[in-house]
Amino acid sequence: MRGDDRNAQSEAMKRRYYTGRKVEKAISIEELRRMAEKRLPAFAFEFIEGGAEDEVSLAWNRDAFTALRFLPQTLIDTSDRHTKVTLFGREQPSPLVIAPSGHNNIYRRDGDMMLARAATAAGIPMALSTLSNTRLERLPKETGGRFWMQLYQFKDKALTLDVVRRADEAGYEALVLTSDSYVYGLREWDRRHFKRPGVLTLRSKLDALCHPRWLFDALVPHGVPKLENVIEFFPPEARDTRTATTFIPTLFVSDVTWESVDELRKLWPRKLLIKGILSVEDARRAANHGCDGVILSNHGARHLDSVISPMDILPDVATTVGDRLTIVIDSGFRRGSDVVKAMALGANAVMVGRAPLWGLAAGGEAGVAHALKLLQEETHRVLGQIGCPSFDKLGPQFVKRETASVGVRA
Ligand SMILES: Cc1cc2nc3c(=O)[nH]c(=O)nc-3n(C[C@H](O)[C@H](O)[C@H](O)COP(=O)(O)O)c2cc1C
Repeated sequence: MRGDDRNAQSEAMKRRYYTGRKVEKAISIEELRRMAEKRLPAFAFEFIEGGAEDEVSLAWNRDAFTALRFLPQTLIDTSDRHTKVTLFGREQPSPLVIAPSGHNNIYRRDGDMMLARAATAAGIPMALSTLSNTRLERLPKETGGRFWMQLYQFKDKALTLDVVRRADEAGYEALVLTSDSYVYGLREWDRRHFKRPGVLTLRSKLDALCHPRWLFDALVPHGVPKLENVIEFFPPEARDTRTATTFIPTLFVSDVTWESVDELRKLWPRKLLIKGILSVEDARRAANHGCDGVILSNHGARHLDSVISPMDILPDVATTVGDRLTIVIDSGFRRGSDVVKAMALGANAVMVGRAPLWGLAAGGEAGVAHALKLLQEETHRVLGQIGCPSFDKLGPQFVKRETASVGVRA
């Protein structure tokens, strides 16, 4: 088929995507994404969607998977196959973890809790962002699930200490220090919706009014959701959401170092992970500083553009520190085949960010549950197709890197 014909065919395919309201009818994460796009005003959809600057790394995050091809083994009995893994000593039905994301209640009222309930029902952990719209205590209390607390270190040490102490008291399984966003990224799509921080342009306001289903669920009558976890540390004049968005960037400091990790290690009694590791040297440092795991991540390409995909360094990290650290990876996972590729190259678990958020926007808790189900079913199917009955039988022999992911799109 000629290139032009192929493009015409894929355009026709796109028009056939289901974008109605029944999330259970979505047959892929991409379909949930399109449903989310329809339901949300552009400023909220693009907050999920956007990558930094020219979004080169956003594309590379996907290219990293296309560059990997399966080498299936044939005539293997996979009739009893399963996708179970053991993560931090506990068995779970799939290697998925919901990634931390801030401001989730902007898509759905009580969005954080919907994610938490769906994760718990799926038997997987969820990481809660410091910038969540829900106080961290609610999640374990109301769901009985497994939670990891994501931590941004702020200028105000008292705020950081408060989050750590509360997460400990609430029984969070792990603390996740995010290391990659202290110098904030420029997301241009996102920026264009705002006249100034926290104030939408007239065009974006009108667009919001054209989405009444969203408006009356997420905003009316309570207004823009607040950052409930940390708001009490804001000065009274910055508590209003509009001023809070101007205030948040001033909270970040770029002097977070490995010494901060040592301090946290002394404070935090359970699993400690660093999120945002993108080199073998830093993974080794994390092990030497007493961490239990690393999350290989470029933050979904939301902060630094032209940065590598974590998939590009996964095999080297796994070879170097795989026996000392739990290796979690995120950025760009949209298919079960992506999950299988990462697990083949040495990951112990996979974090998903945008995929469950599209599910949330499209259909609330049922949408998140459906996103997780799609990924789980695809993972299960692909394991069967490559002749691998379980993750403990999977290894790098099942994949071949055709080219480096960088440059594949050229
Ligand atoms: C809307 C949104 C908000 C996010 N907020 C946070 C956050 O508060 N803390 C954090 O460590 N990572 C945050 N992330 C990054 C995710 O945890 C994760 O690294 C990323 O989404 C993975 O890439 P993926 O979206 O392609 O799956 C956010 C991501 C998105 C999409």
